[in-house]
Parts: sequence; C-alpha cells; structure tokens
Amino acid sequence: MKETVIKDKKFREMITSDVISARIREMAEKINRDYEGKDVLFLGILNGAFLFAAELFKEIKLRARISFVKLASYEGINSSGSVKELIGWNEDISNMHVVVIEDIVDTGNTLELIQGQLKTRKVADIRIATLLFKPGAYTGTQAPDYVGFEIPNDFVVGYGLDYDGYGRNLPSVYTLVNE
Ligand code: IMP
Ligand code: MG
Repeated sequence: MKETVIKDKKFREMITSDVISARIREMAEKINRDYEGKDVLFLGILNGAFLFAAELFKEIKLRARISFVKLASYEGINSSGSVKELIGWNEDISNMHVVVIEDIVDTGNTLELIQGQLKTRKVADIRIATLLFKPGAYTGTQAPDYVGFEIPNDFVVGYGLDYDGYGRNLPSVYTLVNE
C-alpha cells in the first residue's frame, strides 16, 4: 500500500486514480441519461472540486456550461460573526438545471449553505454531485444525488482535497493513518 507524508501526518492510499476515473465515467453516464435533452449548468465549488469537476465535465455529452464559485468567509456586520457567502459567479442562473459539483460532503453544512443561496436565485432545480460522501458524519436530511464513493468518517486528502492546503495534487485519495 502506498503511503505519503504531508506536513506532520502520514496517509495511506485508499482509492486509486484508476478506480476514481472509472467511477467518474459511470457518474457522468448517469447524469447524461438523467438530463437528456436539457440545458445544464455545472457549478464547481472551489478549491477542492476542481479536479473532479474537470474529469466529470469531460464526460458530459449534454448541452452544458460550467462555472466555478467559491465560499468566502467574511466577518459579518451582524452579531453572528463569520458568514459564508458564495462568490465568483456573474451569470443569470434563473430557470437553469444546476448540478453542484463538490469534492466531499461531510456534515453537509456547506451543502446546505450552497443550496440555500442557489434557491434564492430561482433555479429550475438543483442536484448535487460529490466525489466523496461520509454518511456517518452527515447531519442533513437529503443525501447527495450523485455520489462517487461513500467513505468512513476519517480524514482524507488527494484528488483535490487538502490537508492545510497540501495534498490536492495526489492522483489518488489517501486516508489518515492514526499512529
Ligand atoms: P461539510 O460542510 O462538513 O460537509 O464539509 C465540507 C468541507 O469540509 C469540504 O468541502 C471540504 O473542504 C472539507 N472536508 C470535509 N471532510 C474532509 C476531509 O476528510 N478531508 C479534507 N477536507 C474535508
Ligand atoms: Mg471543499
């Protein structure tokens, strides 16, 4: 088993790049079938989803566009403190079929936030495609629509996911080794 060290932590290969690529092709085929004849906007969430979004989008045969947004934290003017807002988009997405592309859904808090902000923009419908899903950590009610892999509730890096900014370039997904 391949191992790698990032900063002070050791990680072990969990999902190889070949397995990831094959699964992404399957996910794209399902999306192609589900949205046949429709005009679809893919919305990648930066930074983590950039690799997954690129590989998935290459396999999409629909009339489709892709755009990327980022969740930015800023200190709110109200008492609740830090607020997260989606930034980076400039197109009219009303009445679009939107597929949000995420690297990982953990507690689901981020997802809920994104869905909330998209709904205010009157899109036709929203579905979520995520490479990784941690059902054991998820506190939301509705599971993501397209899931690459369900994984245990452990910290992972690679294929876009980072540990303190590092590890995104690993072609496979690696899981933390507890020592
Ligand atoms: P959630 O809001 O708890 O679902 O977490 C969402 C965000 O936390 C993801 O978009 C990731 O950026 C980050 N995250 C959650 N789990 C992991 C992990 O195992 N490795 C790296 N980042 C993670
Ligand atoms: Mg992320």
